[in-house]
Amino acid sequence: MGHPRINPSILSADFANLASELERIHTADGVHVDVMDNHFVPNLTLGLPVVQALHSVAKLPIDVHLMIENADRWAPEYAQLGVDSVTFHAEASAAPIRLARELHAAGSKASMALRPATPIEPYLDMLGELDMVLLMTVEPGFGGQKFLDLVLPKIKRTRAAIEGTGKPIALQVDGGISRDTILRAAEAGADVFVAGSAVYSAPEPSAEIDVLRNLALGGH
Ligand code: DX5
Ligand code: ZN
Repeated sequence: MGHPRINPSILSADFANLASELERIHTADGVHVDVMDNHFVPNLTLGLPVVQALHSVAKLPIDVHLMIENADRWAPEYAQLGVDSVTFHAEASAAPIRLARELHAAGSKASMALRPATPIEPYLDMLGELDMVLLMTVEPGFGGQKFLDLVLPKIKRTRAAIEGTGKPIALQVDGGISRDTILRAAEAGADVFVAGSAVYSAPEPSAEIDVLRNLALGGH
């Protein structure tokens, strides 16, 4: 299991000042960018041109989370921008193995996300195709929702399956991560933590990131 990493979500940042909002999280391990299409989720955020603009100014690795339908069509275009990692939803991909391979061919890491009610079991045999699994700990679509403890057993089962592959596959959690919940997610086996409202509502986001990382470390 990797050292805990904190990837703040800019969903809770000031969209009119994204470049300076990135400076406020310079202590992070990566930047989590939530792409929503108003079809896969009932919310609309940003797309390829804004991700490209963020990539051109960001000093941290960019971790794109696609909450969009037709991931097979669109996810490779995000990988081609040169971002570090692209996450598609299993529920939105007809051919996740082919898609993971296309993301690698385009030069990005390949990551697959599951909504809270989607089981990991149908995907266990393809874990070796992925660099990261994202387990949503809220229903995707909005920041500021409450962490769903019912996902904890799935985090544990996924961690066990990852250890079984012998590969360094990251396990990311996203939704409701805060000072109150991060240790539970870390103890269950997560090692990459997305936090939107917890980081951007803090008076000092860069310091809050260090607080969260230390709390996650307490779990090991
Ligand atoms: C929700 C997004 C998350 C969101 C997390 O659909 O995928 O990345 O920004 O926000 P918080 O940390 O406030 O739950
Ligand atoms: Zn996200």
